[in-house]
Amino acid sequence: MHITMIGAGYVGLVSGACFADFGHDVICVDNNPAKIEALNKGEIPIYEPGLSELVLKNVREGRLSFTTNLGEAVQETNAAFIAVGTPSRRGDGHADLSYVYAAANELAQNLKGYTVIVDKSTVPVGTGDEVEKIIRETNPDADFDVASNPEFLREGAAISDFKRPDRIVIGVETERAADVMREIYRPLYLNQAPILMTSRRTAELTKYAANAFLATKITFINEMADLCEKVGANVQDVARGIGLDNRIGSKFLHAGPGYGGSCFPKDTLALIKTAQEYEAPSRIVEAVVEVNESRKSAMADKIIAACGGSVKGKTIALLGLTFKPNTDDMRDAPSIVIAQRLQQAGATIKAYDPEGVEQAKQVLTNIDYAPDPYSCLEGADAVAIITEWDAFRALDLKRVKTLLKSPTLIDLRNIYRPDEMQRQGFHYVSVGRSNS
Ligand code: NAD
Ligand code: UDX
Repeated sequence: MHITMIGAGYVGLVSGACFADFGHDVICVDNNPAKIEALNKGEIPIYEPGLSELVLKNVREGRLSFTTNLGEAVQETNAAFIAVGTPSRRGDGHADLSYVYAAANELAQNLKGYTVIVDKSTVPVGTGDEVEKIIRETNPDADFDVASNPEFLREGAAISDFKRPDRIVIGVETERAADVMREIYRPLYLNQAPILMTSRRTAELTKYAANAFLATKITFINEMADLCEKVGANVQDVARGIGLDNRIGSKFLHAGPGYGGSCFPKDTLALIKTAQEYEAPSRIVEAVVEVNESRKSAMADKIIAACGGSVKGKTIALLGLTFKPNTDDMRDAPSIVIAQRLQQAGATIKAYDPEGVEQAKQVLTNIDYAPDPYSCLEGADAVAIITEWDAFRALDLKRVKTLLKSPTLIDLRNIYRPDEMQRQGFHYVSVGRSNS
């Protein structure tokens, strides 16, 4: 199959490289010339484990290429995937579909022969209808179908999620489009990945429902963590105790500083908007968004409390800034709110992140960025672990103690054991666990 992938970001680049690795011919198109230039030089513009090797291998073997020229890319294509960003629209929380519609417009002018246009971006219900309308109006002679194929990969585990998905959801309105999509995903049929063929609108909504449900699960356990702290219970044991029930499942029950990232925050907001528009308000998701928002600043307050009630004039070291480990993505990372609130309370911030510093510098200013975890701690009054990078799981605690002015460690990801930390002489504060 010949595939065009429009948008070479986290989703487009990973999907393009994986489709090429299945044996398809893939051209990735991006309208950011610097990105394409870098990719053509073999440089990968994002940090995603294993991606560099996968891209280089498929380029070398002639199945993957990059261009800014959409017209050339779609000449022979069987399917053109739209994998551009759908951020929150400023002011109202709706998904900003301008990038999707711009891509559809450009595609319309360049289609040759039967092509399936596939929305891989996360888009509100009805976007497929709108894309179809745009193409029909711009190019009445075009021979095409529009399908929805939402992506469920997680950053940091993107390649294995794409190649071994729990399921693939495909929303199609014609058998002809279904045939093309089946052929594209044939290698995964052989892996026995369940493929759900649904209507286009159902596929669009399924993506939002999945993200909102996962965000709800995290928010639920975060509230249980707060309760655990009050009643002297342990949230990790509660999570295990409920998660072993197959009806609940153990994943996405890690209490922490609130969910962040490029998807959950914007997708929950967009779902709320859609639900309101269709007069079927999603009150649960509305509560999830509100609780998660307030949690981030509550985590800054937790750090302040651990420092004796004030951080004025103090230096706080933050370990981990990205919204989760194994990515350089800072979009809606809880660290942003936490760092800014600590600064407002008079603290000086030092920070270290293994991969996210360049992106962090664009959103977090007046921060002393350290080159490694230990120099980050030097002279700080307290350290807070915000993101659970593996590099922070086995710190040399004796060294940590000698570097800090006072041995205060706030662990917002529960990667250390309270009893052990106490034994080592730390004032240790974690999430949803009493210190005994
Ligand atoms: P991204 O911002 O990393 O990448 C989008 C890319 O599209 C950019 O490189 C941009 O230059 C390019 N682009 C924008 N308009 C274009 C156009 N008209 N023509 C060509 N290129 C264009 O975004 P992302 O994180 O990959 O997300 C893409 C979509 O996938 C979003 O809808 C998102 O919600 C969804 N999604 C993301 C993830 C994730 O983990 N990041 C997971 C599942 C779904
Ligand atoms: C998410 C969805 O999981 C994925 O299916 C979708 O395609 C894109 O959005 P991603 O944002 O990459 O993926 O990361 P994910 O692992 O889901 O984590 C999202 C946020 O939730 C992170 O801030 C993470 O720290 C937080 N989280 C996750 C928790 O706080 N506790 C958990 O148990 C799980």
